[in-house]
Amino acid sequence: MQLLDGKKVSNEIKEEIAAKVAKMRERGEKVPHLAAILVGNDGASLTYVGSKVRSCERVGFESTLVKMPSTTSELELLSKIKELNEDENIDGFIVQLPLPPQIDTQKVLLAVDPDKDVDGFHPMNFGKMALDMSTFIPATPFGILELLERYNVDTKGKHTVVIGRSHIVGRPMSILMGRKGWPGNSTVTLTHSHTKNITQITSQADIIISALGVPNFLKAEMVKDDAVVIDVGITRVADDTKEKGYYITGDVDFENVSKKASFITPVPGGVGPMTIAMLLKNTLLARERHRSRK
Ligand code: GUN
Repeated sequence: MQLLDGKKVSNEIKEEIAAKVAKMRERGEKVPHLAAILVGNDGASLTYVGSKVRSCERVGFESTLVKMPSTTSELELLSKIKELNEDENIDGFIVQLPLPPQIDTQKVLLAVDPDKDVDGFHPMNFGKMALDMSTFIPATPFGILELLERYNVDTKGKHTVVIGRSHIVGRPMSILMGRKGWPGNSTVTLTHSHTKNITQITSQADIIISALGVPNFLKAEMVKDDAVVIDVGITRVADDTKEKGYYITGDVDFENVSKKASFITPVPGGVGPMTIAMLLKNTLLARERHRSRK
């Protein structure tokens, strides 16, 4: 079994980005600027956005965190988005999800300028991704592709089973793994809450990508020998013995599945850090595109 070490690879990617940013500074060019909008006080979202902003600083980007209260109206959020769309200093921005119930997420994602949509969630960018056009690929799927590539994992003709059809991970992942090229050229099965006989399906998978958010969902008996297992789950489980009062766990019964897998991602330290690295990569791409247009 080989560990797909997202922590290590994400650090390599950040160093590559930092070197490019240092050159930009040397040439006196504007460096990439990422903004993040966080609405409300959800603990997990605060942690993720905090990591994104800190990572920006580490690679030499500029960053702006816009915190809005949980009572923010849809109109107020749309107005803030318009402001960031029009701010020439900002190359890319994200609206952290989930949003409070009074706000229509689809309306919000449609309001983001596709040229600044470094999450790749705008329908125009999602459509371009599905049509193999150059665009911003959503950070988590992009990070998984990058891990498969850097560890030379063969995907051609393999049966990839994706568990979960979220717009952020499962759906785009299923499209990307079936694309022409590498990583891709897989035969993809997208499973979800209405899938019958899931064990029968996962047992036939060469590659399993689980993005469900249910701790210990994927057990050893659901996985064939030498499968590649990617765990996208990040669930906080309450635990008074831990300093933070919780621990983080994935969808996969790591202890037992890792004995059968050829490659496997740990949680934490697998897909999570890759997501942040790829968001930075998309922001760098946004800056390069803006520069070449001026
Ligand atoms: N919530 C969970 N994952 C993500 C992500 O990749 N981007 C945003 N904006 N919100 C999220």
